[in-house]
Amino acid sequence: MLKKLIRRKQQTISTNLYDRKKLAQQEQLPNHIAIIMDGNGRWAKKRALPRIAGHHEGMMTVKKITRFANEVGIKALTLYAFSTENWKRPKLEVEFLMRLPEEFLGTYLPELIEQNVQVKMMGNLDSLPAHTKKAVVNAMEKTAANDGLILNFALNYGSRDEIVQAVQQIACEVKNGTRSADTISEELLNDYLMTKGLPEPDLLIRTSGEVRLSNFMLWQLAYTELWFTDTLWPDFDEACLMEAIESYQKRNRRYGGLKGEEVK
Ligand code: FPP
Repeated sequence: MLKKLIRRKQQTISTNLYDRKKLAQQEQLPNHIAIIMDGNGRWAKKRALPRIAGHHEGMMTVKKITRFANEVGIKALTLYAFSTENWKRPKLEVEFLMRLPEEFLGTYLPELIEQNVQVKMMGNLDSLPAHTKKAVVNAMEKTAANDGLILNFALNYGSRDEIVQAVQQIACEVKNGTRSADTISEELLNDYLMTKGLPEPDLLIRTSGEVRLSNFMLWQLAYTELWFTDTLWPDFDEACLMEAIESYQKRNRRYGGLKGEEVK
């Protein structure tokens, strides 16, 4: 009896989600969603587990959310998996985090390929451990021709570092005479950032109740809609993503200007 009731409740939840997904797809969907996946440590602590258990559960959420974002029809999903500041964490935690891309791609790559997902990465690839780099490069190569959802991992990524690198490259070109300073524009800088070719995020999600950007896509988020939730990343699920998308669809994006009625 109890089992029947639970099954019925689960069916209702998934039917609701299905309906909400259909409804959301009739409106303007965010093309690009970026997520600061926060709260793995607190999730583990609440269960008296080591922090790495939280990261592992967080990886399972990555699977769930990638699958769902693809089903909804999102074009690009950028996930902040490891920042340039995260190297300061205890050695064992860093080592564990550096094993996650391997584990994730080791088990999930065939499904990503089948789902037409293209894996990308932004961040400093060369200073990753060899095994992490190998797993990521292999996934990027195997999915390069796919044209479905872009799954972009921010790995060893820092936004200020990204901007400095872009400015250095442009400055070199000016110095050696291949470019004049007056050709420097927003579009040009975009082309030197690690997000070259990607649309700017329409929606940024940060989990776990923290309300800051933590050196994430500072340039690219200039006009992005922000959505914060207290839910810890390992507890984040399809319904949470739907809530964020629905909230985005109610926003009035003006990009500093006015819209329709407001102009009169
Ligand atoms: C922040 O939570 C989370 C991270 C630094 C790591 C995020 C990584 C994952 C979610 C898994 C990535 C998966 C793949 C496939 C690369 P925190 O540890 O700072 O949490 P806390 O604030 O509660 O301590």
